Amino acid sequence: MDAFHYEGGHLFCEKTAIADLARTYGTPLYVYSQSSILETLRALQTAFAEVDPLICYSVKANSNLGLLKLMAEHGSGFDVVSGGELERVVRAGGLASRSVFAGVGKTDLEIADGIRAGVLMFNVESEEELQAIGRVAAGLGRVAPIALRVNPDVDPRTHRYISTGKKESKFGMDVERALRAATEAASIPSIRMIGVHMHIGSQITSTEPYAGAVAKGVELIAQLRKLGHPIEWYNMGGGYGISYRGNEARPVEEFAQVIVPGIKAAGCRLAIEPGRVIAGNAGILVSRVIYTKQSGEKRFLIQDAAMNDLIRPALYESYHRIWPVESNVPLGQEAGLQSWDVVGPVCESGDFLAKDRELPRISPGELLAVFSAGAYGMVMASNYNTRPRAAEVLVDGANARLVRRRETVDDLLRPELDVFV
Ligand SMILES: Cc1ncc(COP(=O)(O)O)c(C=O)c1O
Repeated sequence: MDAFHYEGGHLFCEKTAIADLARTYGTPLYVYSQSSILETLRALQTAFAEVDPLICYSVKANSNLGLLKLMAEHGSGFDVVSGGELERVVRAGGLASRSVFAGVGKTDLEIADGIRAGVLMFNVESEEELQAIGRVAAGLGRVAPIALRVNPDVDPRTHRYISTGKKESKFGMDVERALRAATEAASIPSIRMIGVHMHIGSQITSTEPYAGAVAKGVELIAQLRKLGHPIEWYNMGGGYGISYRGNEARPVEEFAQVIVPGIKAAGCRLAIEPGRVIAGNAGILVSRVIYTKQSGEKRFLIQDAAMNDLIRPALYESYHRIWPVESNVPLGQEAGLQSWDVVGPVCESGDFLAKDRELPRISPGELLAVFSAGAYGMVMASNYNTRPRAAEVLVDGANARLVRRRETVDDLLRPELDVFV
């Protein structure tokens, strides 16, 4: 059963009524399903089992400490892109030795923190970064394990903002440059090159881009070994898409089918960095309607979740299913609906969660659920318009636990008040 489902016209997360959570914790509220997270984690472990995968959950998708702790307890490693994300992993009980450190702009301080924490490897994105890691590691008297991030120049056929594997993107190095970097690395004693990394984009809903990418890496790994690098890991990044509208996502087994043969051919262990596929459909954003309003032919549903809570619609024009939390009209029914723009209170015309959306009749005071909001939702939330960020709740069956309290205006003002004269 889908973790989020209607029973008798009420929306539930597992065995917990969403309306009860909204009453207890207020709105806007992010609600996550523990069983959904763990099911996807297990599905990935099973799909890639043949190549002994290390699943490095991509912390950027949802970095809540409660979720990281849950995943660490179930064997997950982590993919981090900043010193802050590494700190989150460690504080949540995750192991740095099962974590990879990516990102195009690692500072010396972040590199040193990563080395001291004992990360499994740094995903190196440029020749200058390679030099920096070598220098920092030598200064600490350590040898830093690294993987070269290679840009395979494949088109992942996704939104241009989340496409990362084409040669015009800022990420990784093309194959020729990677080979030059590998030659350079061979003479840096404080670096040990143990892997190759690729991440071609996010919300990918076909397997072909992976098939093309994985083959390029197999060839490169052979060349790197000839240069003397002991390549043990092939990290294929993340990117598996989820269903935002209906069932556009491919099952993870299909991605495994095109990736696993390449990993075997390369004689490597597989690391993957899934984010969205684990957290995306495991979370919803719950909001409460404040007002309804008509302007010309347009009807606006003004509710208390705004672009500062969920920026994806404004940023990528992305689609999220939205439906009342309490409704006798089944989700997805098409007859007898009204068209609404679902907007928030922020002073921007870009502040919308949906445009021209067909919804059942709904009135001020009622609750709305914005589905598939578990990934790239709360992590991108801001305090724009001095709006405190939402609370987050993790549901396990009939139990719900607050994993982040709602911010207060005082929390927001504190760094300024501390130096206010
Ligand atoms: C290097 C890297 N790895 C993993 C991910 C996670 O991607 P996704 O959430 O699509 O699985 C990203 C996100 O863009 C990324 O940049």
